[in-house]
Amino acid sequence: MPSRPYVLLSCATSADGYLDDAAPRRLILSGPADLDRVDEVRAGCDAILVGAGTVRADNPRLLIRDPRRSARRAARGRPAHPARVTLTATGDLDPRARFFAPGELRLVYCATPALTPARARLGDGAVLIDAGDPLSVGFILADLAERGVARLLVEGGARVLGDFLAAGLADQLDLAVAPFFVADPAAPRLDLPGPGPDGPMTLAETRRVGEVALLRYLLGPGGPDHRFLRWAVELSRLCPPSESAFSVGAVVVGEEGDVLATGFSREQEDHDHAEEVALRKLGPDPRLRHATIYSSLVPCGARASRPVTCVGHIVAAGIPRVVFAWREPRLFTDGEGAEQLRAAGVSVTELPDLAERAKSINVHLADTSSS
Ligand SMILES: NC(=O)c1ccc[n+]([C@@H]2O[C@H](COP(=O)([O-])OP(=O)(O)OC[C@H]3O[C@@H](n4cnc5c(N)ncnc54)[C@H](OP(=O)(O)O)[C@@H]3O)[C@@H](O)[C@H]2O)c1
Repeated sequence: MPSRPYVLLSCATSADGYLDDAAPRRLILSGPADLDRVDEVRAGCDAILVGAGTVRADNPRLLIRDPRRSARRAARGRPAHPARVTLTATGDLDPRARFFAPGELRLVYCATPALTPARARLGDGAVLIDAGDPLSVGFILADLAERGVARLLVEGGARVLGDFLAAGLADQLDLAVAPFFVADPAAPRLDLPGPGPDGPMTLAETRRVGEVALLRYLLGPGGPDHRFLRWAVELSRLCPPSESAFSVGAVVVGEEGDVLATGFSREQEDHDHAEEVALRKLGPDPRLRHATIYSSLVPCGARASRPVTCVGHIVAAGIPRVVFAWREPRLFTDGEGAEQLRAAGVSVTELPDLAERAKSINVHLADTSSS
């Protein structure tokens, strides 16, 4: 298990960077299409974290709205909704807040001095965890990882987003920019308490979602290769489970760094491989001749389920470069995907420091293969 979850920050701002206005009633910056997009993101996460300020100001439910999405999670043996997580230094939380509604796991990380009064106030409304004095965000992430949270969605508010960004503890930032201004210095805004991440973020996607512009940035260690590959690894968590096939994620990135397509195993049909799905979504596309495909597992060079291997698809599409994390263990095939790609003139980069992460999602298969 990686030492901390993948951390996805998600927020909506006005065109001038505000997260809300200064009025007591919550300002909704997203439209219905963007709220639905966020709902899909929630459905792919193990836990949602908001700061105590957001619990107090917005009283959010932190539930998946679309019952089909929660039913799909439940069918895969996951809790119907993500766990709810908050953090507080003062312990000043109202036990009647929707955050504490029965249902999914509720975790409250509390600074040591406020632990006893918080326990008296909240009773058994949540699991209360001593997060140190001062409260440590690094500790919270390590503790969440130990509790099985592999993917954490951080939905705000201002202080929490700033803390995660300034501490270099974010892997992705989904920023929805609404088409109006707030222009009120008293309102909370996306702001950093410190110098912020080293170097520029990697812009992975820009998309119109209803009336808002979605900007998707990748952060974290390493350059764009590392970040895109980590994203591919994350996509593999979305795969329908299988006892007989790996869960793999793939991202196809164009020459200018724009994401052309993504895919994950079994995304559309039972025997789908991740690279195959991503390339099917694109069809014949001249941009592929300058693209890179990132795959959490080395593309297959032999395959029982279908006649064309992923190596075959990549070579046929004319993709000149492949980056992968994990070498396929000799479990289902003897395919030497990397060697076949190189022999076909494709440049192949292996980033083995991400192999453990890719393997951890396939641990039930990987353990068998190591013998
Ligand atoms: N547009 C959006 O996408 C979006 C999303 C969410 C929220 N918001 C807005 O953001 C505003 C709330 O932002 P906010 O900054 O007031 O609240 P916040 O970031 O949600 O929570 C801040 C609180 O969390 C605790 N906390 C956070 N980091 C901590 C740390 N490192 N150490 C100790 N305690 C820590 C403290 O709680 P205690 O005070 O209890 O000690 C702190 O006051 C609201 O207006 C809300 O509507 C907007």
